[in-house]
Amino acid sequence: MNKWQTLCHIDDIEEGQSKGFEHNDQSIFVVRQGQQLHVYHNSCPHLGINLEWQDDQFLTADGTLVQCAMHGALFLIDTGLCIAGPCQGQRLKVVEHQLQDGRLQIRL
Ligand code: FES
Repeated sequence: MNKWQTLCHIDDIEEGQSKGFEHNDQSIFVVRQGQQLHVYHNSCPHLGINLEWQDDQFLTADGTLVQCAMHGALFLIDTGLCIAGPCQGQRLKVVEHQLQDGRLQIRL
C-alpha cells in the first residue's frame, strides 16, 4: 500500500473552485465545497485526456458541475458520475484522499 502524501492545504483552493496538480507524474484535480474536497484523476472517461479548458478551470460557469473542455461532458462534483455527454453513465476516477489538520493527503 502506498503512503499518504500531502498535496496541498485546503486554503490553497478557494471555496467553490477547482485546482489542478501534477503529482508523481499523475495529473489530478481537486474541487472544494466548503470544508469538503473532491479529488479525481484528470482524465476524461471519453478519450482519457485532461478535462480543463485552462489552468485550474474544471467547472461549469456556475460552478455546479465538472465539465470536460473537449466535448462538454458534465460530471457531478461529489461522485464524478457523468450525467451528460459522450461518456454518460461513466465516472471520473476518484483519488483516495483524507484531510489531516487542513492538509489534503492523497494515496495513489
Ligand atoms: S474527451 Fe471529454 S467529452 Fe470527449
